[in-house]
Amino acid sequence: MCGIVGYLGKGRTRQFVVSRLKKLEYRGYDSSGIAFNKDDKIDNVKAVGNIANLENLITDENEVQCAIAHTRWATHGKPSVKNCHPHSSQSGVWSIVHNGIIENYQEIKEKLKTPTDSDTDTSTVAELLEERNAKTIGDFVEVFKEVQGSYAIVAMNSNALDELFIAKNRSPLYVAENKGEYLVASDPICFVGFAKYYYSFNNYEYAHIKNGKIKFFDAYMNELKKELVELDDCFEETQKFEYEHFMLKEIMEQPEALKRQVKTYRDTNVLAKFNKEFIEKFDYISFIGCGTAYHASMVGARYIERLTGIRASAEIASEFIYKEPVFANEKTLFVFVSQSGETADTLMAMNIAKEHGATCVALTNVLYSSLAKQADYVLPVCAGPEIAVASTKAYVCQLSALYMFARHLNNQIEDKQYNYLKDIELVSSKILDFDQEKINHIADAIKDEMNPIFIGKDLDYIAACEASLKLKEVAYVNATNYPSGELKHGFLALIEDGTPIIVFATEDKVRTKTLNAAHEAVSRGAFQITITNDGGLGYDNLIVIDVDNEYLMPMLEIAPMQYLAYEVSIKKGINPDQPRNLAKSVTVE
Ligand code: M6R
Repeated sequence: MCGIVGYLGKGRTRQFVVSRLKKLEYRGYDSSGIAFNKDDKIDNVKAVGNIANLENLITDENEVQCAIAHTRWATHGKPSVKNCHPHSSQSGVWSIVHNGIIENYQEIKEKLKTPTDSDTDTSTVAELLEERNAKTIGDFVEVFKEVQGSYAIVAMNSNALDELFIAKNRSPLYVAENKGEYLVASDPICFVGFAKYYYSFNNYEYAHIKNGKIKFFDAYMNELKKELVELDDCFEETQKFEYEHFMLKEIMEQPEALKRQVKTYRDTNVLAKFNKEFIEKFDYISFIGCGTAYHASMVGARYIERLTGIRASAEIASEFIYKEPVFANEKTLFVFVSQSGETADTLMAMNIAKEHGATCVALTNVLYSSLAKQADYVLPVCAGPEIAVASTKAYVCQLSALYMFARHLNNQIEDKQYNYLKDIELVSSKILDFDQEKINHIADAIKDEMNPIFIGKDLDYIAACEASLKLKEVAYVNATNYPSGELKHGFLALIEDGTPIIVFATEDKVRTKTLNAAHEAVSRGAFQITITNDGGLGYDNLIVIDVDNEYLMPMLEIAPMQYLAYEVSIKKGINPDQPRNLAKSVTVE
């Protein structure tokens, strides 16, 4: 949620800074802005809409030595130039960009002598810096004693235009240096082509950049020593190449991503630490995530129960954090699933589990993320950078990691050597085997239908949940998901002539049950599309998956549905990479 870039150095164009900001557009794209030094003052340019609108306003190629830039996903105050970052204090001395939420901003507002310049929580911090007469890094850090909430903040001061001031708590922030020039960013993706190494901030850490040097501090102004982190090669993947959209590119990259997943698990033997002795400590496994990662969690819990016999469940992180966590104790293993590893609700859930003495595993695509850093164990997801808001390759790779994890535990418990890597190799070779033209026709048939319904049972039901989420988020279709057995308990009343019913029927033990439920809907006018591994079914609109292993179906049956959502989005003229009101990484509660 929101992207931040800061620059301090001998001089770069604003286009350079904005080009770095563009790499963060996945984090928010409802408005953007840049503040920079000009004639010994701070000037700024802001625009509503995506970053291209800001680019259009920057015409000259004059160099600036100090700049902060921001792409916004609105939390407080609607998208407008007034609410767009950077925000300045009244006299213009301080200008700041912020990612996160200042939880006590109302309280700060009441203390301030001057009203702030926007409806945002951020402005209160800019104004507080001015009213507390902050000049030095020590003053800056002192002001943060009055600030509560999550923040990654980069600030510039008009009386010190050769300095940058940085604060971080619960929102990601990184900084890289190259020959005395500095870039600060909310994702290391911005450093590609600028630096090979970077520093990462922990919570309640601060930094000051001046005279080509950076100093890091804790909240008591003790200077900190920090280790450089090497930039991952996979960041190079963040270009669209021949694809028009990242979403399509990421769907098509799934075979490669799965191969990388297998290679990593084989080469690093990452599962070895989850041995018999380890697993015997637990009598319950709880999977936690949000959105697509919650759907992966549901699949994970089913895999564990079926393959290991250990009790398991999946919880939505934002629900778990307000529940009585009766099962959170040292006998519960928690697995937190998150593509970004920065989802606020998931991080809060992990904190609660830890407070109750539970062991926590992070299953994440971002190994430098807060979730990975805070976990006791990490299960890597090797999808590579996922830029489109809709999760596709990360979901399938999460499922593959969960499958290998469950199979590995089963091997430990039963003392056997089942080769699960081969299964994922099979998924990799089959995942794109669907008929794109057929999906295209189905997309035409359903694109104007308001209320399609996705049904299935057990693992197939989870595929229905994920498929309907994809259609909602990138095609603005009010898709519903239902367990097939529940239709006759109420939902059938909504079936009308032509209601699309997308039926997942890949599991032998429940296929007939699901198809029967679909027949009841079709008898009342529904239009059926079926995803199955039974090629002999002889229905119209059949998508057949030619693999005989029900555990692999959640990975194989979702790919055609991701493609369907993409096609419907395109047919409706929507940009699937930047659906309205959403952002990739939800770093606020
Ligand atoms: O980064 P995370 O996996 O923790 O994100 C969780 C959800 O916000 C995310 O999966 C969201 O539902 C996706 N946009 C779905 O495609």
